[in-house]
Amino acid sequence: MVSPLPTATDTTNANTADTHNRQLFIETVGCQMNVLDSELVVGALRRQGYELTDDMKSADTILFNTCSVRERAEHKIYSLLGRLKYAKRQRPGLVIGVMGCMAQKDQDIIFRRAPHVDLIAGTGQLAEIPNLIAEARQTRRRQRALSLGRRDGKRVEVADSFESYDPTREPQMRPTPHQAFVRIMIGCDKFCTYCVVPMTRGPEQSRPPTLIAAEVDILAEQGVKEVTLLGQTVNSYKHTEEGRLYRLSDLLHKIHDTPGIERIKFVTNYPRDMGSDLLEAIRDLPKCMHYLHVPLQSGCDDVLKLMKRGYTVAQYREMMDRINEIVPGCSVSSDFIVGHPGETEASFDKSIATIQEFRFKNSFIFKYSPRPGTKAFDRLADDVPEADKKRRNNELLAIQNAVSEEDNAEFIGKSVKVFVEGESKAESGKRKAEDANASPSSQDARPAIQLSGRTRCDRIVVFEGNPRLAGSSTEIAIEDCTTTTLIGSIVTHDVQHGCDVGLPILT
Ligand code: SAH
Ligand code: SF4
Ligand code: F3S
Repeated sequence: MVSPLPTATDTTNANTADTHNRQLFIETVGCQMNVLDSELVVGALRRQGYELTDDMKSADTILFNTCSVRERAEHKIYSLLGRLKYAKRQRPGLVIGVMGCMAQKDQDIIFRRAPHVDLIAGTGQLAEIPNLIAEARQTRRRQRALSLGRRDGKRVEVADSFESYDPTREPQMRPTPHQAFVRIMIGCDKFCTYCVVPMTRGPEQSRPPTLIAAEVDILAEQGVKEVTLLGQTVNSYKHTEEGRLYRLSDLLHKIHDTPGIERIKFVTNYPRDMGSDLLEAIRDLPKCMHYLHVPLQSGCDDVLKLMKRGYTVAQYREMMDRINEIVPGCSVSSDFIVGHPGETEASFDKSIATIQEFRFKNSFIFKYSPRPGTKAFDRLADDVPEADKKRRNNELLAIQNAVSEEDNAEFIGKSVKVFVEGESKAESGKRKAEDANASPSSQDARPAIQLSGRTRCDRIVVFEGNPRLAGSSTEIAIEDCTTTTLIGSIVTHDVQHGCDVGLPILT
């Protein structure tokens, strides 16, 4: 959510920033990695006395944590930056920074297109941000901290220039107080032809298991109950420590018994690296969710080859068979790109067929976006017209929605165990507006509200309950569903006299 930006005629708070009020506004786009990076940078700045604000107009420091994966994500940032040009003229003390994937990839382009930007910091240079802000404020000179480009040195030199930034954590920026991301890898070496991530995040590097385990310990002490391990290809995790090779399965075993942690999940998986050892770990470790995000990208072998994904549909099917055999009931979700160069109607039909065959829990569907710096951009013509991309996107989404709704309907009449995340998102917007007008006493006496949580196989469940249930597990009887959500109510177990067996009563 972006709050209104100051415009050329807007003189409210015109001089606030010049007094350096240490109010920080941060806008984060992109994937979970970026959400985590923002948490870490905000944590570092808070230790220097900064406070977070969601009002851009009153901030003296504005950071954009950016994404380059599709052109639209970049446009959004350039348009926000464009609107700040006039604010900067009125408030010269304002410090504007661009961090993240666009910063690493586009460096000079950003300063050229938005000369009022004060600093840029790449994905591997987040620790520098507090200093860059201080320098920019003091010297009024442009600051930059960037890692090497993929072709700027030997692999080890480039890798060393990307720093994994994982200092003490900042609870305020988490998805909820009970959930946290933990980075286990940085970078990517897969080089799918369409993708900028290997350029923006640098070479693939796995973090030491001892460091990861220590971070999970700290998070658990802070009250976190669910950790999501992050990596671009998280199941490619590999690290040798004291002569022992740790794969993701070994890491799961290592952190599984952390007291306080109730759930562990990990994203995003790469189909070719889905070893049976990992599936067996999920089967054997009760805190692991039975959910895997493993993007297929296309259902057509010719397109997969052009994408350089490194597998065929038959190999993906073999992986799905193993998942179903080792972890029955495990849900799987996917990403698809429609309109990739070379995708004919016949190849698109094959993507439809795979959704029907593999019955993904859900799929994220993207229209192909040519990205400068990628192999696809250099070598493959963007030959699918925009109108076809749009139609295929809608069609594939409709097919996926039908599958999701059918599978969700199977839950109606059953009870599921749900980890309660908090107030349901749809409700929380409404509630904030109501609370703004409510007296403090009426807020204390809150009745049951719409809560949302997830099953072990990552299905979203909404139900009425006390907000205090957030962070606990509860049993929900499912009564209805939509394409994305199961809807139900809390099951209470009423113990009758002379009977020590709880009878499930639906409320
Ligand atoms: N590391 C993850 C995801 C990376 S980006 C993985 O390998 O699956 C997230 C998703 O964005 C990808 O899965 C892909 O579906 C999509 N994507 C990446 N580059 C794209 C591009 N140039 N155009 C459209 N979608 C793209
Ligand atoms: Fe991009 Fe492919 Fe790496 Fe995923 S695996 S981040 S799609 S290059
Ligand atoms: Fe975007 Fe960078 Fe993530 S390009 S998807 S923010 S790794």
